[in-house]
Amino acid sequence: MRAVMIAVFASAVSMAPHVASAQDAAKGQQLYAAQKCSMCHQVAGKGNKLSVLDGVGAKLTADQIKEWLMDPAAAAEKAKSTKKPLMPKTYAKLPPADIDALVAYMQSLK
Ligand code: HEC
Repeated sequence: MRAVMIAVFASAVSMAPHVASAQDAAKGQQLYAAQKCSMCHQVAGKGNKLSVLDGVGAKLTADQIKEWLMDPAAAAEKAKSTKKPLMPKTYAKLPPADIDALVAYMQSLK
């Protein structure tokens, strides 16, 4: 029994989601600039007022932020968002590490 418990615990640890770090957030901030998110979003008074992201880290979970990046149409439907232009679908093609970094940056906006 104990062996089973240890095996379950070990696999849970190895499957644990990537834990966001301050380094990720810094990389995410660079990606945010490189991907021109500010064409539609505002952070700390800079960018487009269409959608203000200050406080988004307190408002949304990491999974919800990830969904905005991976499947913006589905996220917009869930959020009942009518704002246009919709977020481009192209972010889903970014490397997973870049998505994680963008999510970490969004989570740091509290
Ligand atoms: C072409 C415009 C556009 C671009 C570019 C864009 N977004 Fe968005 N995004 C939107 C719109 C519109 C919404 C819905 C906002 C709402 O309804 O409040 C949204 C929603 C979001 C949300 C949820 C906001 C909330 O308040 O719930 C996050 C997080 C987000 N975008 C992150 C990003 C990131 C990160 C990038 C760049 C990688 C990006 N967006 C690029 C248009 C855009």
